[in-house]
Amino acid sequence: MKCRLINLALLSVLVCIKITVNAQVVPGKYTVIPQPSVLSPQPGHFILNRNTVINPSSGVLFGAAVRELKTMKDKTTAVVKNTISLKSVHEDVIPKGGYKLSVKSGEVVLTASTTEGAFAAVSTLKQLIGASLYKLPSKTGFEIPGVEISDAPRFEWRGVHLDVSRHFFDLEYLRKMIDRMALYKFNKFHLHLTDDQGWRIEIKKYPELTAKGAWRTLNKQDSACLVLAKDNPDYELPEKHFKMIDGARKYGGFYTQEEMKGLIKYAADRSVEIIPEIDMPGHMMAATALMPWLTSNGKGGQAKDFSEPLCPCKETTFEFAENVFTEIAALFPSKYIHLGADEVEKSSWKNVPECDALMKKEGLKDINQLQSYFVHRMERFFNSKGKKLIGWDEILDGGISPTATLMYWRTWVPDAPRHAAEKGNELIMTPGEFCYFDAQQDANSLQKVYSFDPYNFKLNTAERKFVMGVQANIWTEYIPSEQRLEYMVFPRLLAMAEVAWGKPSLDWKGFEQKVIDQLPMLDAMKINYRFLDLNGFSVNSVFVDKAALEIFNPVKNFDVRYTTDGSVPNLSSKLYKGKLIIERPVQFKLAAFNTSGKRGELYTVNYEKQDYAPSVQLASPKKGLDFFYYPGAYHLVKDINEKALEVQKVTSAIEIPVEKTADQFATRHKGYFYAAEQGIYTFFLRSDDGSVLKLEGKMLVDNDGWHSSFEKSAQIALAKGYHPFELLFLEGGGGYTLKLEVLLPSGERRAVRAEDFYR
Ligand code: ACM
Repeated sequence: MKCRLINLALLSVLVCIKITVNAQVVPGKYTVIPQPSVLSPQPGHFILNRNTVINPSSGVLFGAAVRELKTMKDKTTAVVKNTISLKSVHEDVIPKGGYKLSVKSGEVVLTASTTEGAFAAVSTLKQLIGASLYKLPSKTGFEIPGVEISDAPRFEWRGVHLDVSRHFFDLEYLRKMIDRMALYKFNKFHLHLTDDQGWRIEIKKYPELTAKGAWRTLNKQDSACLVLAKDNPDYELPEKHFKMIDGARKYGGFYTQEEMKGLIKYAADRSVEIIPEIDMPGHMMAATALMPWLTSNGKGGQAKDFSEPLCPCKETTFEFAENVFTEIAALFPSKYIHLGADEVEKSSWKNVPECDALMKKEGLKDINQLQSYFVHRMERFFNSKGKKLIGWDEILDGGISPTATLMYWRTWVPDAPRHAAEKGNELIMTPGEFCYFDAQQDANSLQKVYSFDPYNFKLNTAERKFVMGVQANIWTEYIPSEQRLEYMVFPRLLAMAEVAWGKPSLDWKGFEQKVIDQLPMLDAMKINYRFLDLNGFSVNSVFVDKAALEIFNPVKNFDVRYTTDGSVPNLSSKLYKGKLIIERPVQFKLAAFNTSGKRGELYTVNYEKQDYAPSVQLASPKKGLDFFYYPGAYHLVKDINEKALEVQKVTSAIEIPVEKTADQFATRHKGYFYAAEQGIYTFFLRSDDGSVLKLEGKMLVDNDGWHSSFEKSAQIALAKGYHPFELLFLEGGGGYTLKLEVLLPSGERRAVRAEDFYR
């Protein structure tokens, strides 16, 4: 699934981790995300309070850290005599961005070589204090447990991207995001400031870009949000972003340059740098609607897959682009500026006389090289302003310049990072599969982000050194509100923090526990995070005689409540206390509630009574499944066109044995599933895009339509033996996933494998 085209699912080891636990130490008190390189709990504790002396001995360098500590201590009314000393050392002693912390009763010593390092230490102190820091006023002061920490970042680029074009987020909220980024040690805030749907940054030379281009009448995505808002108010378009313009109600907003300067300073004071993106030559409709002459057809508008791009063959385009970037380069102090250059409708440049002439003059072979001509020329302009260019990985397609930085996103172009690194280009890794936080979440999403290995993209040891870091990308086509944004971002951002800063070893269970330990802090910060999933059941369950619904709730102090009358559970609904025995068909609606009574995900669990489906006799069962491949664009598997059949073969497992698949295609696996014993089987079907599992000729799991990687499950009662099996799948473009797992009657969950299938 290509992120930007989605319809909403329908919508080295550089550090080693060491924790030494003393007998006196209470686990859970040392929950720091991302995990410090070395953390050694110590006895005693320090009370940060109104009387704490902040002693910046060599501290001019540490102004931001000192200011933050002062703000914290002024939030308490307690008075205890103690000291925090800040010490500055050379980068040979503590690497750039790293720090040491020693917390004892009566004294904290914070040592760093850089402002960022000192600020990172303060973020660690905040997490060691935890929820109480955000519950004010504090009469007792803020308790910091005794500890020795030595810490340093793994990557220099620890980014969060936010698309403020598709939906606008105001400065007050961006400041909140910066606070949260700093708390989790992110240091780059990439703002996607322009796109087809809105221009968000004042350009003094072209005031209409924001006077008009920042405001819209509601579009298709807004309407989709409003439909979803009927069931979920987080999809409402915030009233504060509407305004009457020339008698019409318009939706949007923008930042003036003065406002942006304030935000840049706010971020810099928290060791966060703002990276601006003005996406061109594609994704430019907010501008080309006002200046259609910048496109090749002179009209602008929507083209085949994307909007009409700027025309790289007209000097007026470069005049416009250079005027815009002159102001951007002057406004943003960052070394890097992002040119975008993704998803360009390059076919719009075909058969355009100016383009034919330019290609001839410059010796350009195709439209990919034409795009590179634009990008290279803009890069030279950026360089003339002392800036470096970042582009999405499409900048590889027509030939990348040796000095551009590549932001990798297209997981379905697996060789792109290697091709860039081979040429010596810097890489920022944001592969969609792991880093796109606009993708709907399911029970595996958090672990998926945690499992992200930015080196695992065919990069050899020498090539890995070009990886500057990682970034979480938040595209907001379907994220209109702050509430919805937080739901999509938390807790996944915590997993990305581990990848970006440290994660020397994979410890999923340990990480999950840290997230659980930090939920009170997220609650105290009023973050609308997504609850960790309840599990242990399938929403489509069956029983033969009787069954037991056993819910596993990972957050022990959250209650689970349920109803059986179809109503949404609330705080007066029945409390789940243990196994529920099912002897009749029933529907449960169940949800977890946090300690302040807020409800998490709603699960609707249906129990259907079944008899064991009898098996069929096969005269001479042969191993494998019949496989069919149908290139073409399909939105639902029912639309598969038998006449398009191109490959038919036998396969032993759920795989797509086609050497080079089309961008869009569908497949069918057909045969028999062998149930090795009588019992209830649960099938888990994960796909990107759509899939449907049929057993016994009937729909079992419906995971159809275009969507990001998403898992659905269902149960069926099967007699021992062979059962008709069919798995349909479609890929709408942008990379695919297809995985089928089974939970056996024995309780073992595993991927289906060759021994399960016959034909
Ligand atoms: C992108 O998601 N089009 C970079």
